Amino acid sequence: MQPLIGFRDFLPASCAERNYIFAKWREIAGRYGFVEFDGPVLEELDLYKKKSGDEIVRQLYEFVDKGERAVALRPEMTPTLARIVAAEHRQFRKPLKWFSIPQVFRYERPQRGRLREHFQLNCDIVGEESPEADAELIALAIDVVRAFGFTAQDFVVRVSDREFWTELLKLEKVPPDRWEEMLQTIDKSEREPREKTEERLGKLAKPVFEIFEKGGESAKLNNIIENLRLRGLADFAKVDVRIVRGLAYYTGIVFEVFDRAGKFRAIAGGGRYDQLVAQLSDNAVSLPALGFAIGDVVLGEMIRAHTTARAQMEKTVAAERAVEIYVVTAKEEQHGNAIATMQRLRDRGYRVDYSLAGAKVARQFRLAEQNGARLAVVFGDEWPQVGVKDLETGEQRSVAHEELFAHLATFPTLSSRA
Ligand code: HAM
Repeated sequence: MQPLIGFRDFLPASCAERNYIFAKWREIAGRYGFVEFDGPVLEELDLYKKKSGDEIVRQLYEFVDKGERAVALRPEMTPTLARIVAAEHRQFRKPLKWFSIPQVFRYERPQRGRLREHFQLNCDIVGEESPEADAELIALAIDVVRAFGFTAQDFVVRVSDREFWTELLKLEKVPPDRWEEMLQTIDKSEREPREKTEERLGKLAKPVFEIFEKGGESAKLNNIIENLRLRGLADFAKVDVRIVRGLAYYTGIVFEVFDRAGKFRAIAGGGRYDQLVAQLSDNAVSLPALGFAIGDVVLGEMIRAHTTARAQMEKTVAAERAVEIYVVTAKEEQHGNAIATMQRLRDRGYRVDYSLAGAKVARQFRLAEQNGARLAVVFGDEWPQVGVKDLETGEQRSVAHEELFAHLATFPTLSSRA
């Protein structure tokens, strides 16, 4: 049997790649002072019905549970975060800077870059209205992608302001109950034939395409780009009014991250959602908020397609998966000494393995190499001397058993913390 379409098994090699991605995500979020939180995988259906917008609601994995509750697997993290913050915010100094790495579920048509489950790094700032927060968040998004070995030649953050579009909707007297549909059409316009967009927009088509051609400018956007310039990150961002975002709750600055060559789907996206917390709060606490998410699927595809990023990942993954020391028992009587020593090596923090089946010596050495071990420690006739073979250079030394730890300390790349 296969996993469901759009779902993945993570065999050890892909699990190691996933861990590599998560470790970088945690590291960079930590550099910006973000702390990790999590929430439930299953939420009340209403949480999404009201707040995420039609597109995501159509993609929900929803069902009625045994207690007759209408529930859904989370398709994104932002409603959960807003729900938690609306209830718990009094405990925390503002602004909150929180990150999370949820697995999320959307019933989409599986294709390159889009599956039915994926992991996302979400970084959100709650309780700060200054555009400094928007710049800080975009800088973080840039640094998260840079951490994998990508440069300004590889990707760009396209920054926009939803207010360009909501102002136009007001000006053109579009009734508010049609705003979401119009914004979604504008958001999708890049991926649709022009005639289709024009048809859906009706009388709005002309001004919309004019704005596309003219581009947009505002003091707020200039301020953000200038802030990125001070950080040396201006090359990674550009103003682009075509970005609207598909989710319903965004209210201001919005952005998406794309590869420069345009080969992949969006890598990351986010923006301001200043009303969402108030909408989910019983006593209407109003807390401005902003955030973004970067998914593991497109990022993984980009890493594998990029020579430097791929080499960096493979090197880290290989080093983390390899055992360091392989214990070889060359004489059966030495089995006791071998496993007693092995336990002490593991206690000191070395990654150690041995043959459970007691294979022939030559095979034990082969296994040592296959497991990526740097050293083999050999227990044989010479006891209380042991052999230490450097599997990189082929050099072998005989060391007194009680000197073994001192000798291992001369290999600075091994991981012992003792
Ligand atoms: P989103 O744009 O829906 O935003 O998703 C963020 C990223 O998740 C996308 O750019 C993409 O890389 C990845 N992604 C989305 N759907 C799929 C899929 N079906 N398969 C693989 N990857 C996918 C949000 O989810 C917002 N909640 C982000 C946010 C956080 N806004 C404020 N805070």
